[in-house]
Amino acid sequence: MYDFKGRSLLTWLDWKEDEIRALIALSRRVKAEKHEQKQRFKGITVALLFEKRSTRTRCAFETAVGEEGGHPVFLSTDDIQLGAKESVEDTARVLGRMFNAIQFRGFKQSTAESLARYSGVPVYNGLTDQFHPTQALADVMTMEEEFGELKGRTLCFVGDGRNNIARSLLVLCGKLGINFTLCAPKELRPNEAELKKLWQSSASLKIGGSVEGADAIYTDVWVSMGEEALREERRRMLSPFQVNNGLLTKTGRDDTIFLHCLPAVRGEEVTDQVIDGPQSRVWDEAENRKHTIKAIMLATLGLEQIKV
Ligand code: CP
Ligand code: NVA
Repeated sequence: MYDFKGRSLLTWLDWKEDEIRALIALSRRVKAEKHEQKQRFKGITVALLFEKRSTRTRCAFETAVGEEGGHPVFLSTDDIQLGAKESVEDTARVLGRMFNAIQFRGFKQSTAESLARYSGVPVYNGLTDQFHPTQALADVMTMEEEFGELKGRTLCFVGDGRNNIARSLLVLCGKLGINFTLCAPKELRPNEAELKKLWQSSASLKIGGSVEGADAIYTDVWVSMGEEALREERRRMLSPFQVNNGLLTKTGRDDTIFLHCLPAVRGEEVTDQVIDGPQSRVWDEAENRKHTIKAIMLATLGLEQIKV
């Protein structure tokens, strides 16, 4: 039996393989039971703190909590003090007295860490400069639905290899035994020290490799939120890394799936033909955000048991 009660999800670095597998199993059960009327969040309040915009993450948290009788409260930085007129630590202390859990999306990973340290309730990282862990769980769940056992599969990330999505996938794939190939320009790859920290695995890691044989091709926007000033430079660097039909053919397989965290800038990192094509699983992946987020909350609030 796993006991995740009280635990935060800030990064996958401090989660073990079997614990992550248990969360994927619970996510798949949550999905299978999605039409059942349950009230597991009755009496539960969750604060949703957003310094950056969001469609999927916000809606996944709000609908997951709300449809099961809980009360999500959306708080943007236009609404609350968060490091502006009140320290993050003090805000955390107050929110911890009023809410059962906190979701944070924002600029700094350190803010998510402070919220977890000072609130005393589970904190979920809904995207920072460094990681987007709830996204990565939905991504590997989507791969498992497609292929079954994840160990030995290969995911190839194409694009900005240092961003929050690439870094989260590196950690999670490594932990689950998924081989990882990074197709990114030299300037946009994690450095040696970072790689050593992120890749704790005996699976295969190829930096600058080809997409040949990949089970999944994954890409993300060329310009992440907060980096808008770099648009022209990124376009120049990343144009050769567009995921189009030509690149997809280079896998040498017709059952490679295409994944993208979304939102996508069609015509930049991915073409319409690929994202709308038969190998795309992006809409399943987006739906899985909700099931995985619900599972993470159920487990860390102690509302669902996870058997071994
Ligand atoms: N993938 C993702 O996090 O989407 P949002 O930015 O819409 O939340
Ligand atoms: N790398 C993107 C992910 C969006 C879900 C960003 O940070 O904007």
